[in-house]
Amino acid sequence: MSLLNEIEPLKQAALNELKAAPDLAALEQTKGAWIGPHGRFTALMKQLGTLSKEEKPAAGKLINAAKVELEAALAERRGELELKAALPKEPADFSAPGRRRALGKLHPLTQVTEDIVRAFRKLGFAVADGPEIEDEYHCFDALNTPADHPARDTQDTFYLNVAQPSRLAGAGGTPALLLRTHTSSVQIRVMKSQPPPVRIIVPGRVYRRDNADATHNPTFQQIEGLYVDKNVTVGDLKGTVEFVFKELLGEETKIRFRPHYFSYTEPSFEIDFSNALVKKLGKDWLEIAGCGMVHPQVFENVGYDPEIWTGWAFGFGIERIAMIRYGINDIRLFYENDVRFLKQF
Ligand code: DAH
Repeated sequence: MSLLNEIEPLKQAALNELKAAPDLAALEQTKGAWIGPHGRFTALMKQLGTLSKEEKPAAGKLINAAKVELEAALAERRGELELKAALPKEPADFSAPGRRRALGKLHPLTQVTEDIVRAFRKLGFAVADGPEIEDEYHCFDALNTPADHPARDTQDTFYLNVAQPSRLAGAGGTPALLLRTHTSSVQIRVMKSQPPPVRIIVPGRVYRRDNADATHNPTFQQIEGLYVDKNVTVGDLKGTVEFVFKELLGEETKIRFRPHYFSYTEPSFEIDFSNALVKKLGKDWLEIAGCGMVHPQVFENVGYDPEIWTGWAFGFGIERIAMIRYGINDIRLFYENDVRFLKQF
């Protein structure tokens, strides 16, 4: 059979195969088998050179026309198959219920924090904020906590490995920047930035060099409170704390103050509270906060006249309250970001 006669049947065979390709992969394979570098149609074209001068133009024309036809068939089949691949396998069922996207939730600690803030707002407290990377001065010195206090030990606190080129650098070359160990540092920052009276709360993250266990985590949340005015008394402190805890943990909640020591308050107390949830834990009282009347030295340090101004401050841990409220027995759960835990609140 002459070359000229082979063109038409080969083209037909190629067209049939291309049109029948069941999917894109098969189509590519068919393309290779016919018009790829080693394809049968390509081989035919290579034979053109063996034809006589007279036969060549007609055969060339035929082959080119066939090639155009094959390319068109390939493109068409490719279009069909791509469309098929993009279509859903199942027909749409418009009566099916909509797919619901799970709604996010606030972290339980955020929820508790917001409740506490709401309770204090009712009493006219404003929210203040301060840096988590703090210096020794605001975290300790200004709070009347001397350089030899154990809280300032490098084993107790996270210091930053950068030299602080200011007067705030501790004696003996200790690095002066640290991760704040309590929100009390913000008391100093706020008092230094405004004249009295002051009525603030400071929710925020704090850091301690604690190994994580069921009741400790190297980072946790506190709320600080500071109230400065004329003639402020321990009675104001007690009344405020009682109001907030009843808002937070129920009307039947009781609180009591025990004498304690903090270097930035005098007198100082620890606050215990009691309610049905505490009883459920098999206890009568649970320690929840430290507090006291602002030490005159602290007022001196921020430039308030301690003969005129009086005040109280407190600080408590937010996890503690959240754990009691929700019956959570391991503080680490708050920080693992396990959705199975978080979506329960
Ligand atoms: N800063 C203390 C702590 O982290 C809590 C505290 C105690 C805060 C007494 C105060 C205070 O403001 O007056 O344990």
